[in-house]
Amino acid sequence: MECFCLKEVRPELLEKQQEYIDKICAENRILGKKPLAFVETYGCAQNESDSERLKGMLEAMGYDFCGTSVDADLVLYNTCAVRENAELRVFGNIGALKHQKNRKPGLVIGVCGCMMQQAHIAEEIHKKYKHVDMVFGTHSLYMFPEILDKARLGNRVFENEDSEGEIFETESCHRDAPPLAKIPIMYGCNNFCTYCIVPYVRGRERSRSAENILNEVKRVSESGYKEVMLLGQNVNSYGKDLEDGLTFAELLDEVCKVDGIERVRFMTSHPKDISDELIEVMAGNDKICKQLHLPVQCGSDRILKKMNRSYTREKYLQIVKKVRERMPEIVLSTDIIVGFPGETNEDFEDTLSILKEVEYDLVFSFIYSKRKGTPAAEMPDCLTEEEKHRNFDRMQEVQNEISKRRNDAYFGKVEKVLVEGFSKTNAEVLSGRTDGGKVVNFPGGSELVGEIVDVKITECKTWSLTGEIVK
Ligand code: SAH
Ligand code: SF4
Ligand code: F3S
Repeated sequence: MECFCLKEVRPELLEKQQEYIDKICAENRILGKKPLAFVETYGCAQNESDSERLKGMLEAMGYDFCGTSVDADLVLYNTCAVRENAELRVFGNIGALKHQKNRKPGLVIGVCGCMMQQAHIAEEIHKKYKHVDMVFGTHSLYMFPEILDKARLGNRVFENEDSEGEIFETESCHRDAPPLAKIPIMYGCNNFCTYCIVPYVRGRERSRSAENILNEVKRVSESGYKEVMLLGQNVNSYGKDLEDGLTFAELLDEVCKVDGIERVRFMTSHPKDISDELIEVMAGNDKICKQLHLPVQCGSDRILKKMNRSYTREKYLQIVKKVRERMPEIVLSTDIIVGFPGETNEDFEDTLSILKEVEYDLVFSFIYSKRKGTPAAEMPDCLTEEEKHRNFDRMQEVQNEISKRRNDAYFGKVEKVLVEGFSKTNAEVLSGRTDGGKVVNFPGGSELVGEIVDVKITECKTWSLTGEIVK
């Protein structure tokens, strides 16, 4: 477990957090056997990072971890609200725990994160899922030990007040093994795209101080991490809320200077905030990976306006041109929403044409999902669900062909790959990523995990590359 000092959270809150951590730790020590916790995470990298901090607190409280809910004394789901199917999965999984709780009354069940920040969801759990002991939203994550203490005493605890400005900080973090470390640099979002729930469940943008971010980067580097991923819903606006803060481009440069850090990535960039300064810093620094996730959402100006994305198709294409001119090797990816309210088949054709024009390496595509409380939820629709699904399938077909073609261009090239571990499907095959973030699988031994190796690409598939190590 890793500990770091974070000044930006109010010290009295951290002290209170520590008091409850110590109390539960002392109680668990008396048991003579570590209780087991099962933590499952839904949603984006930001949520994964929050879970690493929640797990850090659990570890400090004397818990061990298990791989399934069946063996657990504590089950915690960290949830995502971005689309309805993510929410339905969570409800299904909570429902399935009812019998387990009947068999094992001491089991503590918690649900936290983005979904739980919404009052109507917390209310539904309160009424219909009485076996759930604790519910807490993103604004209350730092209170986890206090909430857990009350739940362990047999109380049902619901904590999802909006508390703008609080940052989820803790001195504990249980990360995935090296070589990759996720480092949040800011929380929240100010953009209010009309389809999106994130600003409502994550609050306004709050940047962490550069000092604390750099301390955390130094800490992970000392623990053997070679690559960091800087996280935020819109990293380009990093620092705008801080007095005398660094810009995102300046922060990137500083992170690259930390001894032992060989690669730096970031997620996600909003096209409206991509500065020339950022493009120059990326192009001029070998440690900054040449990978850019630049969500376009759709190719029609009419729909972009309704989405409140603050850029036009032309402006977006100009950014792509500038980025490619300075970094021809850049690996570009994007997010697309199909079937936004009012989207016609003609608008959809504009989306297909922007995919063909940009030729992304990778596209994450979603069918629009109505989110309660967002402006788009009140907008009239014109396509049927069937038409939306048909467009969605067509789009994937077009993009798969492009992705395959983009990958084919790597055939015979030698790429620098940071080895992350063994492939999930074959224990004799190593898996890692190129500088541009492409997944490469190749034969090799465990001594290479965490190393950067030269791999010659021998096979190109739609989603990954295969290769062999070049001596
Ligand atoms: N902050 C990031 C995106 C976070 S959500 C950004 O702005 O790029 C990740 C993706 O989910 C979005 O880019 C969008 O494509 C998709 N998404 C968000 N809300 C959605 C909704 N209501 N229905 C379908 N997809 C949605
Ligand atoms: Fe959602 Fe838009 Fe903010 Fe991204 S920028 S999190 S899509 S509101
Ligand atoms: Fe989902 Fe919350 Fe991330 S809604 S996409 S987990 S910020």
